[in-house]
Amino acid sequence: MSSSFTCATGFSFLLPWYDHLVARLTCEQAVKKHLIQQAGIGPQTRLLDVGCGSGTLLQLVQEQGPATGEGPSPWVGLDIDPRILKQAQVKLDSYGKQPHGRVHLVRAACDRLPFHDHSFQVVSCSLVLHHLKPEQKLSALREMRRVLSRTGKLVLADYGHPKSMLARLLFLMVQIADGWESTQPQLQGVLPNLIAEAGFQSHQETAVMSTPLGTLRCYVASP
Ligand SMILES: C[S@@+](CC[C@H](N)C(=O)[O-])C[C@H]1O[C@@H](n2cnc3c(N)ncnc32)[C@H](O)[C@@H]1O
Repeated sequence: MSSSFTCATGFSFLLPWYDHLVARLTCEQAVKKHLIQQAGIGPQTRLLDVGCGSGTLLQLVQEQGPATGEGPSPWVGLDIDPRILKQAQVKLDSYGKQPHGRVHLVRAACDRLPFHDHSFQVVSCSLVLHHLKPEQKLSALREMRRVLSRTGKLVLADYGHPKSMLARLLFLMVQIADGWESTQPQLQGVLPNLIAEAGFQSHQETAVMSTPLGTLRCYVASP
């Protein structure tokens, strides 16, 4: 597993306040609900949330109703940081007692996903790629494609080419917190090219949202 990574808030002393910060600074509900709707996630959808952070997207999925069907929960959250996974576990635990309601949380790096080929119908990834170095962004996207079923969908949200000079200036706060090497390519709008280079057959930009930290762009892609 990669030994170094950028924590969810950039500066780790802010980690206990992750949910408050992200809710106020990233249009969180609108973005995550948009991804869930674009992917058409339902009670039986086998879903992997890559870089799940404190588990908010998975919680929104749980709130739609418990998973149905036999066997283990079809919903998996993966993150590299044990501290944020602990926050996710606490948040998601209230659903743990419901049959098949539990989300399975896994600690791993997003560029080495510990899953078989074609094992998920949907992979979601929100606000993670801007944490990764340029070469890691591509290998993470390749891994997401590998674990998707042939008819599956990737739904993605991250900072992209800014809509205005103000959006560009606001993004400086993300760059100071998360570092230049990983964030600078986002400004150049690399995501669509990387999605194609990772082997996805088609992709589409589905939303552009102005946030207090810059311009967020959402994509849906087919493997
Ligand atoms: C800004 S947070 C986003 C969390 C969540 N997806 C959300 O939208 O609220 C970025 C997350 O990516 C995780 N992360 C960073 N590098 C990673 C890596 N190499 N592999 C897996 N997760 C990583 C961080 O630990 C953090 O939880």
